[in-house]
Amino acid sequence: MGDKSIKVTAPATVSNVGPGFDIMGFALDTVVEEMVVRLKGKPGIRIKKITGDKSERSFGKGLPFNVKKNTATVALSHMLAKLEMNIGVELEIRKKMISGSGLGSSAASAVAAPFALNELLDRPFSKSELMEFALLGEEVASGCIHADNVAPCLYGGFILIRGYNPTDIIQIEPPKKLHCTILHPQFEIKTSEARKLIKHNYPLKDIIAQSGNAAGLIAGLLKSDYNLIKRSLNDVIAEPARAQLIPGFYEIKEAAMKAGSIGCSISGSGPAIFAFSTSYEKGIEIGKAMKKVSSERVKKNIVYVSPINTVGPKIIG
Ligand code: HSE
Repeated sequence: MGDKSIKVTAPATVSNVGPGFDIMGFALDTVVEEMVVRLKGKPGIRIKKITGDKSERSFGKGLPFNVKKNTATVALSHMLAKLEMNIGVELEIRKKMISGSGLGSSAASAVAAPFALNELLDRPFSKSELMEFALLGEEVASGCIHADNVAPCLYGGFILIRGYNPTDIIQIEPPKKLHCTILHPQFEIKTSEARKLIKHNYPLKDIIAQSGNAAGLIAGLLKSDYNLIKRSLNDVIAEPARAQLIPGFYEIKEAAMKAGSIGCSISGSGPAIFAFSTSYEKGIEIGKAMKKVSSERVKKNIVYVSPINTVGPKIIG
């Protein structure tokens, strides 16, 4: 086989969305990953290059080149096993933000690689089949199967995962005016570590509160009821357990709400924090307020403001 190649991007994603631990997520316009996938004559999967992975310089070890440990290549190896094809595939991974961000960086790799190879091979798999490969890729980064980054990254839009056995994905049409501000303090939190903070048993009152808020959030999104979204964006499971990982989390959240946010919480396992608003301009104001507070504690902070991305991965070359 020749050196046919394709270049794709994959979006950043916010998972959990307050009360939706492991069952809700949405995509942003912000690109988290660019990837070149190339067919090679020599069989096997290889990573040729990883760039933009600042974790290499700032936080010790970079992303793994070992194909059994990188989310992109693990997803690809499951795809090739299913295809029963012994072909050669080479990857160039260009990270657009540091890993361990809480913005679905590992999921983006796990999505981009099978999405790109599927295009190169003239789409032998459906999106739901690609998602199963991506989920297995994501598992190596977080230590368990969760679809709340992978599914919105692959499908775009706002996603509810009704169940995992089998994976049951529901796309929710978000209100047109809904915007999301992201504050990304520049340090790393490993999802696998942050998951250890979540208890496995919760009192019935917490389960009732979480279910009520999750249901309220979905109803608020479907009805474009911003007040209901605001009332529902409460998380009694992950946020109280993980807030300690993000310096000044509650002060940052307070600043976002004072600046007019209609709901703010940790994005995935953090350290990124998301805040909903009803316009781009309001989103910018909220971002400034959040950054001001975070900058007193963490040196470098990046702010993004985006509507909900409904597209998912894109072919750019
Ligand atoms: N639902 C996952 C968690 C998302 O919170 O652990 C990780 O990005």
